[in-house]
Formats: sequence, structure tokens, C-alpha cells
Amino acid sequence: MLALCTGICVDAANSAREADQHANVDDMDLKLSGRRVLVTGGNSGLGAAMVRAFAAEHARVAINYVAHPELTAAMATQLRDSAGEVLQLAADVSRADEVATMFAQIDSAWGGLDVLINNAGIDGERALAWEADAAAWNRVLQINLGGAFLCAREALKRMVPQRSGVIINTSSVHEVIAWSGYSAYSASKAGLSMMAKTLAQEAGPYGVRVLCLAPGAIRTAINAAVWKDPDGQQDLISKIALGRVGEPEDVAGMAVVLASGVAGYVTGTSVFVDGGMTDYPAFSHGG
Ligand code: BGC
Repeated sequence: MLALCTGICVDAANSAREADQHANVDDMDLKLSGRRVLVTGGNSGLGAAMVRAFAAEHARVAINYVAHPELTAAMATQLRDSAGEVLQLAADVSRADEVATMFAQIDSAWGGLDVLINNAGIDGERALAWEADAAAWNRVLQINLGGAFLCAREALKRMVPQRSGVIINTSSVHEVIAWSGYSAYSASKAGLSMMAKTLAQEAGPYGVRVLCLAPGAIRTAINAAVWKDPDGQQDLISKIALGRVGEPEDVAGMAVVLASGVAGYVTGTSVFVDGGMTDYPAFSHGG
């Protein structure tokens, strides 16, 4: 009975999604052509989808990566026809020296930056606090939050004097939903939210917007163990009002809109792209 209902709900959600896709960002001119965009962690998962979405808008895209140069090179080759230009920039965002070098490379190629997507991140090993390794805990914070700060700092050095720019942090529903076993990850995502609000206050008077894009459960490698397992997938779907796991393109489409003038009055906030995970659908019964 439950399985039947789940199937019907998923079918309904899929057809709603197909209908929604008729109104996609391809129909709009977001005026991102030629814009200089850096996506950290840009060669996999959500980052790769965002790189593709900006390239489809004919932006110039810099793909930051820390591993798999061959994947990055393959992406760059694929995108060369649509994107204004593609850079491949190796840098560990948690290291200030490597971040500074990466921005110097952007300066010499493009003379500045218009959009920073702070996307690089890890979730870390699942561990209850009293079993967690302190170094592993800190590493999650160093990459997810410290790395985003280092990149934002370099970006703002350029955006504030040019009096324009957009910084989007990829946070998560876990900036507001607690997640047992992932205290470092959840703390880093909540931290990204408050950092965005604070930087938005600082940079707003200079015409620079800073915000978070907060995805829910999106089908990428980071959570493949869950959505590839039928029980895991069913549990995940029970937590999503729209009854389906998101696709990277759901997030990437919103990233390009938020980076564009369409969202020119949006700053210091988080935009949730979560199919209603933060709507707590478990409360559709009981409570
Ligand atoms: C995590 C995913 C998880 C989702 C919903 C995301 O931030 O990266 O692994 O499925 O949150 O819990």
C-alpha cells in the first residue's frame, strides 16, 4: 500500500517536474554573457552542473578543482564552444596562499571577477560528537567555511573597488536542519549563512551581493550511498515535500538566476532549493 502510494506520488512529481521544465532558464536572457565566474569545486557534482549552466549562458567560467585534473580538462573541452572562455585552476581553497595564487591567475586572464560561487565542500565521516576525530572535524570547517571565507575575501578585494559582483555560497538545508553525525558539516553550513549575511552588510553599500543557495537532497556522488539504496531513497523521499530527489540542474538553474540581474535585489539571505525539505513533510501526518 505504502509502496503503491510512493510510486503514484513519484509519478505525479515527475510529471509536474516535466511541466515545470517548459519554463526553464533557457527561455530568459540573464545577461551573463562574458561575465567572469569562478566556481570552486567546479569539476564534480553541483559545482560541475553550475559550471555548465554558466557556460550555457556564455559566461567566462573558471573551474577550480583540487583533484582529477583530467576530469576538469574534459569538461573544459566540452564547454569551449558555449562558454565565453574556460580556465582550469587547481587550488585547495582552505589554503590562503593557493587561493591568492588562483585569484592572481584570474586577474591576469580576466582582470577581475564578477561572480564567485563558493561551492567546494566535503561532508566528512559520519561520527557522533563523542566519537569524532578533532582533526577531521576541523578539516570540514577549514574547507567548507574557511575556504569560502578565503575566496570571498579575495573576491571582495576586487568586487568592492569595481562596485559590482555577486558571491553565492552553496550551503545546505543543514544550515537550519540539525543532522546527527554531521555536526561539523551542519555547523559549517550554518556558518556560511551568517557569513553571507555579514559580508552582505559589509559589501552592500558597494553594490556587491552576498547570499547562500541552500540545496536539499540532490542526486550527486556525495549522497550516492543513500539514493542508490532503495530503503535509503524511500527514507530520503519521505523527507521531501515534492516527493523526489533533486537533480544538479535544479540547483544550477537557480545559481545562474541568483547571479543575474533578475535577482539584483536579493542579498544577505538564503534561497532554499530543496523540494520542500525545510517544509518538514513528516508533519503532513501525526504531530
Ligand atoms: C548533503 C546530502 C544530504 C542532503 C539532505 C546535503 O547538504 O550533502 O548528503 O542528502 O543535505 O540531508
